[in-house]
Amino acid sequence: MRKLIPMLLLLCTGLMAQSAFAKTCAVTIAGDDAMKFDKTEIKLDASCTQVAVTLKHTGKLAANVMGHDWVLAKTSDMAGIDADGMKAGMAAGFIKAGDARVIAHTKVIGGGQSDTVTFATAKLSKGGDYSFFCSFPGHSSLMKGKFVFG
Ligand code: CO
Repeated sequence: MRKLIPMLLLLCTGLMAQSAFAKTCAVTIAGDDAMKFDKTEIKLDASCTQVAVTLKHTGKLAANVMGHDWVLAKTSDMAGIDADGMKAGMAAGFIKAGDARVIAHTKVIGGGQSDTVTFATAKLSKGGDYSFFCSFPGHSSLMKGKFVFG
């Protein structure tokens, strides 16, 4: 018991420190049958250590007709990811396999569906130039926005 109590105290202190540090922030964005997102900008507080982005498709059209995903990347990488994603095709979710330029992405969904992606903000630089977009062919011209961290 003499050794167990200090160990338990250490464990509790450790867990408390971890929960004070870890903060998962939730973001929801919707896409529709008019090929539009309901947000043109997402701002994430620098205190968020993780972010859970939920994409909802509020339309009725199927994924192979009006599919949407939510892809996060540096703005400068967007065009390249989009072009390679188009070549990769529907089966690959319009993302080239192992594309290291992609910071995070949901799967491609159709009307009535939703998908959530959770990732650590350690991957992001405060004030970096990031964008989100839909990688379904032809959608990124309309379906895109700024992602601001910190
Ligand atoms: Co789309």
